[in-house]
Amino acid sequence: MERVLILGATSAIASEIAARYARRGARLYLVGRDPAKLTALCDRLGSTVVGHARADLDDAAGSAALVHTALEVLDGLDVAVIAHGLLGHQITTEHDWNAAEQVLRTNLLSPVSLLIPLANALQAQGHGHLAVLSSVAGERGRPRNYTYGAAKGALTIYLQGLRSRLWRQGIAVSTFKLGPVDTPMTADHAKNPLFATPQAVARDIVAHIDRGQGGAAHLPWYWAPIMSAVRHMPESIFQRLGFLSGR
Ligand SMILES: NC(=O)c1ccc[n+]([C@@H]2O[C@H](COP(=O)([O-])OP(=O)(O)OC[C@H]3O[C@@H](n4cnc5c(N)ncnc54)[C@H](OP(=O)(O)O)[C@@H]3O)[C@@H](O)[C@H]2O)c1
Repeated sequence: MERVLILGATSAIASEIAARYARRGARLYLVGRDPAKLTALCDRLGSTVVGHARADLDDAAGSAALVHTALEVLDGLDVAVIAHGLLGHQITTEHDWNAAEQVLRTNLLSPVSLLIPLANALQAQGHGHLAVLSSVAGERGRPRNYTYGAAKGALTIYLQGLRSRLWRQGIAVSTFKLGPVDTPMTADHAKNPLFATPQAVARDIVAHIDRGQGGAAHLPWYWAPIMSAVRHMPESIFQRLGFLSGR
């Protein structure tokens, strides 16, 4: 039976990932910050949840113990999903170091603090899959979200290195570069046809993990050609296109 650890499990996307694994009978260990949301999710998923923990994942000093407890309860690990994230308020992060640090901590330092014990545990075990939710915002700095984008971009690079460290040992690392998804994180964003639903993104994430190869994937798929064009555009043109470089 698959043993799955989900960190940031109460996120809209992560809850749908957890639900997909629960439907096929996986053994789940869920970690979330909000006790009410975590209890509601555990109740929704029933006996497939074999353990859960409430944790503020910004507390990097607690990450190793958190991971080791989850591995003990699950008796090993097949898949770990790191899903928590914080968009923050871009303009505030341009004036207030504490706000900028918070965004960098939640989206970069916290995942790295979890990936260190997870990668070493999977290496010792000799198999497993690490799956992390990053963002297209990490592919090019834009005035709209460059503090968040810098954290996700650095996380993407970290995962790229980790993937090449672990592939010889049969351990897969997946980086999901998500485009906009209709979740609480984007509740106050104007919606357009490129927005995905958390259900569709969760389906594609689990399907990608099931293929077992790891790698970086844009989700939904149409963000791959869009971001290729955005990444390669000369800055002098990029800066003149308001829909890309505006607020
Ligand atoms: N939605 C999008 O458009 C989009 C696009 C690209 C990438 N992503 C990424 O996808 C992932 C999931 O986001 P989502 O869209 O599902 O958003 P969401 O529903 O708003 O979920 C964000 C989750 O992160 C958790 N979290 C934040 N800081 C935390 C901390 N210090 N400790 C523990 N949990 C913490 C929140 O917990 P609380 O409930 O306690 O606040 C919440 O459950 C994130 O990594 C996000 O950056 C999202």
